[in-house]
Amino acid sequence: MSNHKRPAASILFIFGGSGDLNYRKLSPALYNLFLDDYMPEKFAIAGIGRSQYNNEDYRAHLLDGISKFSRRKDEQNGHWDQFSQHVTYLQMDADNQAAYSKITDYVKEKEAEWGEHPNVIFYLAVAPQLVPSIAQKLGALNLCTDKNCTRIVIEKPFGHDLQSAHDLNALLGRLFSEEQIYRIDHYLGKETVQNILALRFANALFEPVWNRNYIDHVQITASETVGLEDRAQYYEKSGALRDMVQNHILQVLCMVAMEAPVSFDANEVRNKKVDVLNAMRPFTKGEVHENAVRGQYSSGWIKGKEVPGYREEKGVAKESATETYAAVKFHIDNWRWQGVPFYVRTGKHLHQKATNITLQFRPAPHFAFPSESAETWRPNRLTISITPEMDIRIRFQAKRPGQAMTLEPVDMVFNFDHQYGDDHAPEAYETLLLDVMEGDATLFMRADQVEAAWKLIMPILETWENRTPVDFPNYAPDSWGPEDADAMIARDGHAWINLSK
Ligand code: BG6
Repeated sequence: MSNHKRPAASILFIFGGSGDLNYRKLSPALYNLFLDDYMPEKFAIAGIGRSQYNNEDYRAHLLDGISKFSRRKDEQNGHWDQFSQHVTYLQMDADNQAAYSKITDYVKEKEAEWGEHPNVIFYLAVAPQLVPSIAQKLGALNLCTDKNCTRIVIEKPFGHDLQSAHDLNALLGRLFSEEQIYRIDHYLGKETVQNILALRFANALFEPVWNRNYIDHVQITASETVGLEDRAQYYEKSGALRDMVQNHILQVLCMVAMEAPVSFDANEVRNKKVDVLNAMRPFTKGEVHENAVRGQYSSGWIKGKEVPGYREEKGVAKESATETYAAVKFHIDNWRWQGVPFYVRTGKHLHQKATNITLQFRPAPHFAFPSESAETWRPNRLTISITPEMDIRIRFQAKRPGQAMTLEPVDMVFNFDHQYGDDHAPEAYETLLLDVMEGDATLFMRADQVEAAWKLIMPILETWENRTPVDFPNYAPDSWGPEDADAMIARDGHAWINLSK
C-alpha cells in the first residue's frame, strides 16, 4: 500500500459512457489510478448512455477497452473484479430532463451508503453539439449549486470559433461557477509537458538565458503518422488549425513562453499563461499568407502500404478544403520575446509521430577557432521531446578526441525511460482525472484562455475559409508537409528541425 493522499469520496458520471473516449482513454485511466492506489477509498463510476447494457455487459465492454488500450494491459488479474464492482451503467436519454432524476437518486443512494456527501463529477465525453443541452439539464439540478463538490468536465473541441466558444462559456457561466468547470486539454496532462515548468522554474540555470537575448527562435512540432481514422464527421468541420493549434500547441507554447508564476496556485499559473496569449501578435488578414501555411495530404505510400488521399477518405467531400496540416509563425510582443519567432506545425500522415519543442540559441558572439576546426559548428539548442522519446537534450559544441582541434555538436540528454524505467509515466488522462477528483484546476483551461486562443487564430481561419486552396492536395503521405511551409521558415534563414529521419 502506498501512502499518498487519496481524493475524497467521488462519483463520476460519464456521459458518453458507451462511447469511444471512455472505452479507449477514461476507463483505462481510472483503472490505472485504482491499481496505483490513487482512487478514493469510496468511489463509484456511472457510465451514462442510450445503448442497452446491463452492468455485467457494460463492465465486460470496458474491460475489453482496457485490455486493448491500457498502458498496463497485463495487470488486470485479481484487481479487475474489485474495481468493476464500483462501475455501473445508467441507461438514460440525456435529452429528457426527467431522466436526470436517475442521477440524483444515484447520488442519494451513495450518500446513504457512504455516510458522507461525495464529490460529484460530470464528465461530458460526448459530441460537442450535445454539450449545451446536457449542461443545461445538469444545471437545473440542485446538486450543481454545490460549488465545492460538484464539477463538470468538458472535452475539446471547446467551441468552433471565437463566437461559439464565447457563447458556450457564457452558458456554462450561468449554470456553474468557473471553479466547477474543467476544460480538458489532454496535452497538459502529459508528463513531459508538465516537466517544462519544472525545467524552467525549479532550476536557476535556464531562466537567465530563456529570452530574446539568447534565443534565436522556437519551434514546436506535433506531427502524426495517422491520417483521418474514420473521423470525417468531426474533422471535416475542424481541420488541423482547430484540432491541434488552437488548443494543444498554443497551450504548450504558453508553458514555454510564460513568466515565472509566483506560486502554483491554479489561477496564478493560468494568469501567466493567458498573459502570453494576450501578448501574441494578431495577424491582419493581409499578413496571414506570409505567416501561416495549410496543407492537405494526397494519396501515397506509408511503410509499404498504399493510403488514400484526404479527399478520398470515407465521409470527406471530393473538393474538401479542410487542412490536414498547418504551420504558423507567431510573435509574442513583450519584453522577453520581442523579435523571437515561434514556428509551430502539425499535420496528419507526416513522416514521423513526434511532438517536440526546440529552442534554438543565438550563435556564439565571436568565433576564435580556425574555420577548418568547425565545419559542423552549430548554435546551441535545447529540445524537449514529448513523443516518441520523452527526453530533454541540450546540444553544445565539443572537441572531438584527437590531435586536431575539431569541433562538433554533441547532445547531453536526460531521458525519462532511462532514469525511471519505462512504466513510470501515468497517461495524461490519469493525471487529469485525478486532478478533477482533487479539485485542482491548474492543468485545465480557463474560459479566458480558450477565448484568447480563438481570438488569435480567427484571422487565419477566416482567411482560409474565404479563399479556396488552389493547390490541395499539396503534400505526400510520409513527407514532412507542404513545400510552402519550408519556404515560410526559410525566408527567415531557418529550417524545420526534424529530430530523426
Ligand atoms: C486530439 C486530436 O486532440 O489529439 C487528434 O483531436 C490527434 O486529431 C490527437 O490525433 C493527438 O494526441 P496525441 O496525444 O496522440 O499527440
